[in-house]
Amino acid sequence: MPVKKSFRIEALLKNPEVLKVTDNINSEIIERRSYIPPICEVLSKPYTILLEESRFRFDIDPEARKQLPSIINNKVQTIKEAPSPEESQKNQYIEARNIGIVFSGGPAPGGHNVIAGIYDAATKANPDSRIFGFLLGPDGIIENEAVEITASLVDEYRNLGGFTMIKTGRTKIDTKEKMAVSIETCKNLNLDALVIVGGDDSNTNAAFLAQELFDKGIQVIGVPKTIDGDIQVRDSDGKVLCAMSFGFHTAARAFAGQIGNLCTDSSSDVKYWHICKVMGRVASHLALEVALQTHANMTLIGEDLANYVDRERIEKARHRKTTDYNAYGMTLRHLSRVICDGIVRRAAVGKNYGVIVIPEGILEFINEIQGFIIKLNMIIAEYNQTHDTDFHTDFPVLEDKLEYLRRLARRARENESFTIWNTRDDDLFNEVPEFFQDGLLKERDSHGNFQFSQVETEKVILGLVKDYLDILKERGAYKIGIERGYYRKIMEKGGLAADNYGAILFKNYNEGEFLLLKEAIISVKTLRQALEKEGVVTGSDEIPAPIAKIFKKSIPSFKTQIHFYGYDGRGSDPTRFDCTYTYNLGLTVFSLIANGATGQMAAVMNLARDFSRWEPIGIPIAPLMRLEERKGKLALVLEKSLVDVDSASFRVVKAFREKWLAASPAADNYRRPGPIRFTGKSEEDRPITLVLNALDDTDRSV
Ligand code: FBP
Repeated sequence: MPVKKSFRIEALLKNPEVLKVTDNINSEIIERRSYIPPICEVLSKPYTILLEESRFRFDIDPEARKQLPSIINNKVQTIKEAPSPEESQKNQYIEARNIGIVFSGGPAPGGHNVIAGIYDAATKANPDSRIFGFLLGPDGIIENEAVEITASLVDEYRNLGGFTMIKTGRTKIDTKEKMAVSIETCKNLNLDALVIVGGDDSNTNAAFLAQELFDKGIQVIGVPKTIDGDIQVRDSDGKVLCAMSFGFHTAARAFAGQIGNLCTDSSSDVKYWHICKVMGRVASHLALEVALQTHANMTLIGEDLANYVDRERIEKARHRKTTDYNAYGMTLRHLSRVICDGIVRRAAVGKNYGVIVIPEGILEFINEIQGFIIKLNMIIAEYNQTHDTDFHTDFPVLEDKLEYLRRLARRARENESFTIWNTRDDDLFNEVPEFFQDGLLKERDSHGNFQFSQVETEKVILGLVKDYLDILKERGAYKIGIERGYYRKIMEKGGLAADNYGAILFKNYNEGEFLLLKEAIISVKTLRQALEKEGVVTGSDEIPAPIAKIFKKSIPSFKTQIHFYGYDGRGSDPTRFDCTYTYNLGLTVFSLIANGATGQMAAVMNLARDFSRWEPIGIPIAPLMRLEERKGKLALVLEKSLVDVDSASFRVVKAFREKWLAASPAADNYRRPGPIRFTGKSEEDRPITLVLNALDDTDRSV
């Protein structure tokens, strides 16, 4: 036996091979850092100008006009080359600037490249320009905590995921005091411009800051960030200005890579249903993209459920000459029935396994739950507005919160007054499992949003699914189909003529590849009864072993594995698409700043098309703002974009639903998206959702 060479630990740690393989910097990182994304042609020019585009139209909310007067008349701006600018124009373009940048909200892959783009463009125009990164999100502006971004810092993070360089946070600059200190910070740092990289709430912040800083000559530019993909901007005629926020592609590809692997595993050991919750606070864009990437057996799309109409209920109500409002939109119970239907149908063809994708925000689209969320949002907001302390500090444990709700209901009953929480609400809420009550009463984020990622949505749905499957099992409607060839083999091996027993045991013996035990046969006792009835066994006879074996095989057990895909994908290193998109967004930001824009959001038009057709633009934020309920009050916010059930991407997923469910003897239809391959030639270069939706848009393209 060869003698094993055993190093002392000190020597081992100095070994070059050990040093190499344990270094934080591996070859993937080196490659990423040195990658230079392609640049839109116009952004490589030494000088650019902005062209105001009158071909885009917005229906402006009067409240936005009132609250954002200085930026409400902004137009869409396209960036063009300035071939021979005047000397004064040149000087203005290349003047040394101080630019502040802040990340706001959840991390999204590509953020570092936005900084890299701004840094490269600003220092190329004038090496004396300085870029400051506010630390920990908007808190960094409020508390004047910033670092100067240097070339080496930028190089360290090029093409890498996360917001690690300057971190992020969710604070909203939503009070006069916070606004005043933020303005002070901008003045102290002598900022010419502030760049806010964030989602709908953060771009809302950007618009208000742009308004406040307008007179002070400090420009504010937003950048559309969020893995949720819910910042998609069209003008009032439906022309696409921003097809997708950055980070969406990477997160979706990361989730899809993992879920694709589960499809492979699931169809290999054929014993688990994998329940995959995927992030996306409200909108189901990520789930939709995952469906397109993986062809998982079932993907729930929240917006689709909200759209559901129960024709049967409507019909029944019509006969009763009444209206059944519960027929519109889906209830949790109905949803669990839909899922069970898929599970039962697959089981019938021997597939007692599969993969279900559930969007994190699905509850927002479920009738009764949405009601609770809205009411509880209002109750918590109202409490916080009228008390010095806050709801969650005053009622730290669930029982305290429930007691407060009970008091509200009691007060409504005793005073016979109309309140937001009445006895019926309280009774219904008490039927909800405790962990779910706790989830629904969780602290809202600083924007007043319900935090879906904190709620075990999948557990709620799964509880109902399991209960209903048990009922179906009792009824004999949930059974594993037995492959005809297998049945014959087992019977013949046991010396029994398969055909003699087929019609006794199965309800479909004369048809189909998979045989289903008769519904009445749900236990050994009922099996014996069926056999006794036909005189196959009598008295103390044992049930023949082959029949007992077939019976056992037909009994389903619903075994699940639960997964949550969110923070992992959000922290992924960006795809090539996101690297390129974000670097060009950074360059676009600089071009907007250098040309004096404010209150605009940097964007790239034609993202779904070939890179040569990408067109950097500035989108006016103020005209996109709408009044929405936040923290119990109406507030101006940038509208979230939900999945459009008329879009090509959704219609394709819907059309393939049956195929991907694969409730037939044929093979499953899984697609293997594979992992994110930054360097590989085969890396998909843009979200499938985008490619499909662009097909619809060609006739109204810009
Ligand atoms: P943003 O909208 O801020 O980009 O956040 C996206 C998101 O990842 C959601 O998908 C998720 O619901 C939420 O953030 C989670 O929030 P937190 O990071 O506070 O747990």
